[in-house]
Formats: sequence, structure tokens, C-alpha cells
Amino acid sequence: MNFRSLFSLFSSDLAIDLGTANTLVYARGKGIVVNEPSIVAINKTTGDVEAVGKEAKEMLGRTPGNIVAIRPMKDGVIADFKVTERMLNYFIQKAHGRKMLVHPRIVIGVPCEITQVEKRAVIDSAYRAKASEVYLVEQAMVAAIGAGLPITQACGNMIVDIGGGTTDVAVISLSGIVYSRSVRVAGNEMDDAIMQYLKRKYNLLIGERTAEQIKIQIGSAYPLDRPLTMEIKGRNLIEGVPKTITIDDSEIREALSECVATIMNAIRVAL
Ligand SMILES: Nc1ncnc2c1ncn2[C@@H]1O[C@H](COP(=O)(O)OP(=O)(O)OP(=O)(O)O)[C@@H](O)[C@H]1O
Ligand SMILES: [Mg+2]
Repeated sequence: MNFRSLFSLFSSDLAIDLGTANTLVYARGKGIVVNEPSIVAINKTTGDVEAVGKEAKEMLGRTPGNIVAIRPMKDGVIADFKVTERMLNYFIQKAHGRKMLVHPRIVIGVPCEITQVEKRAVIDSAYRAKASEVYLVEQAMVAAIGAGLPITQACGNMIVDIGGGTTDVAVISLSGIVYSRSVRVAGNEMDDAIMQYLKRKYNLLIGERTAEQIKIQIGSAYPLDRPLTMEIKGRNLIEGVPKTITIDDSEIREALSECVATIMNAIRVAL
């Protein structure tokens, strides 16, 4: 037994869902111990990490000039290796109550269409964050298990996971993935579409966080029984002044229609 695995005897095993939008860490015997946005705030002058997760998200869009908030994961894969590593390190330490000398065994869920190079990057990041053993599993498979689908049976189970960066469509049968496809259109793209729409239609500039709130509060793919409206604040691009307008669900449906069509198409292709 080497030193690393000796250390692992004293630390609980972890399972990590390293998402574009949110990272979740599950510790054996404890449940989900971390559920925070995948965001890191870095001080450009010193290069120091100022905040990670929830705290860093608060800084997004309102950070002073020398602090940048980075989303190190893009489209479900690692876009910034160094920052991802620091984020993983922080979350792993947090999961262990900041005990030193922990070398947990870690299972990490990755998207189906991730390349070998990207897989290697995830594995290396976890090892550098002091894991003793690292295993990658397909996110679609664990999502299906989590949702309680009868994946071991000889029938087809379809799973559609709309995340922040990617929408993954997979068909699972007899414990294996028989079909999988990932499109890089999901929550973030929807937020973007809402921002673009309001800019086009009302010359109104809003931030990412407001766009996400609009999506969650009044966003829909199919006409609602009862209409919803929402008051939003933004900046008028022509006059350059703050402005408040009221929008309704049909407008947001229109804004989201292209994203929804792309996702529907991916599902249709799988059927
Ligand atoms: N109630 C809601 N209605 C609509 N969208 C929501 C709601 N709650 C969260 N979201 C969106 O879901 C997305 C985050 O989903 P999730 O945490 O599954 O992503 P992720 O696993 O981090 O991303 P990925 O799987 O692409 O790596 C965000 O874009 C968020 O705005
Ligand atoms: Mg996900």
C-alpha cells in the first residue's frame, strides 16, 4: 500500500458533479456537502483567489476592476485548467471541513462527448487537488441512476439533462449507454438569448443574473394556463439611463424559442 492510499483510509470518499453552472460534492455517509456555483473570483493584480462558489457569484457583474469572476468550466468541459484545479481543491477541502492531509478517492461525472484530452485534464486536476484515486463516470448514467430509471432492464430509458452549458440526451439499456448526444445549448445559452432579445426589442441592457432570474421566474417552452409578468430593471442603451419595464411570459418564450428548438431537435434525432 502506498502513502496516498494509506491517507485515503482516513478520508471519506467523494463524488463530484463538476458542472458548468454548479458543482456538487457528495461525501459518503454525509450526503451532499457542497452545492455551489462553479465560479472563482481572482484578483488580477496579485493572482490570488478572492472567493469561490456562492461568494464569487455574488461578485459577478459587480466586481471592482482588479477582481475578475471566472467560470472555469465551459460547455461542460474545463476551459481553464488552473482555475478549475483551485476550485476543485477548495471544494474538496470544504467537503472535508478543511482538514489537512486528506486524500479521498473521488468519482467525477463527465459529459458523454468529452475528449480524451479533456478527460485527462479532469483527472489531473483531481490528483493535483490531492485525490488518492480518481474515477470518471458518464453523467447520463449517474443521472439515470439518480432519477431511479430501471437502467438494468432490456428496455430503452431516455434521459435528457439540461444543464448550464450542455444538454445531454442519452438512451440507456441493460446498464449501458446505447446512444448519446450532447448539444452545447442549455441554461447559459437561454440566459444569453434573453439578454439579446431585450437588447433588440427594448434597447435594454441587463446582466447575466437578471437574465437567469427572468428565465427561472417566467420562462417557459409551452404556453402557460395563466400569463406571468415580471418587472425588470436595466440600462437603456440609447439614453444611457436606468429603466424599468414589464415583460410577460410570451416574450420570453419567443426569446427562448431557438434554444428550445435545438434541444427538441436533439431529442427527436435520438428517438
Ligand atoms: N427553475 C429553473 N428553471 C429554469 N432553469 C433553471 C431552474 N433552476 C436552475 N436552472 C438553470 O439550470 C442551469 C444549471 O443546471 P445544472 O446545475 O444542472 O448545470 P450544470 O450541471 O452545472 O451544467 P452542465 O451539466 O452543463 O455542466 C442554470 O442555467 C440555471 O439557470
Ligand atoms: Mg450537469
